[in-house]
Amino acid sequence: MLVGLMGSGKSAVARRLAASMDAALLDTDKMVEDAAGRTVREIFAEDGEEAFRAAEEEALRSALGGGSRAVIAAAGGVVTREPNRALINGARRDGAAWVVWLRTDPEALVERVSRGGHRPLLDDDPRATLVRLHDERSPLYAEVADTIIDTAGISVEEVARAVSAAYSAADAGGSGTNG
Ligand code: S3P
Repeated sequence: MLVGLMGSGKSAVARRLAASMDAALLDTDKMVEDAAGRTVREIFAEDGEEAFRAAEEEALRSALGGGSRAVIAAAGGVVTREPNRALINGARRDGAAWVVWLRTDPEALVERVSRGGHRPLLDDDPRATLVRLHDERSPLYAEVADTIIDTAGISVEEVARAVSAAYSAADAGGSGTNG
């Protein structure tokens, strides 16, 4: 499972990893959208962030409970709910998930993030928001991560390779199904 802030490269890296590992690709934003039949932006606008977070928790639960080998791109805010962190840490303890925090300094994220689209939180002042979220969430990502990969200045391909190497080194390959 990949965690980290918006723009840290989770989706792109997860796509590569899933292809190279011949595993399913699960993206919690996409799971929320598929279940709701609406976009992340529409859910935020029509029902509010709390409703989105509730749907996100369901998506995470389903991703972790899937039982098949999968690479999960967990949306940036997944770690904000304590039950989600407990769920992830439970799966890690059971050997069912192995978690990488793709850590990126907020300035690099500002360069990378696409505005609009599925990121309503960045509509107003992306730089200030990313700096704040980095401060608030870094301890939460650390709480669920088995390993940390600093992604500043390296390509998606290189990040994917670093994740694979860390995964092999952790000998997590045979121990679990999801994540
Ligand atoms: C969010 C991250 C987004 C999306 C929503 C909220 C967040 O996903 O779920 O806009 O709170 O960090 P990505 O991390 O995939 O961009």
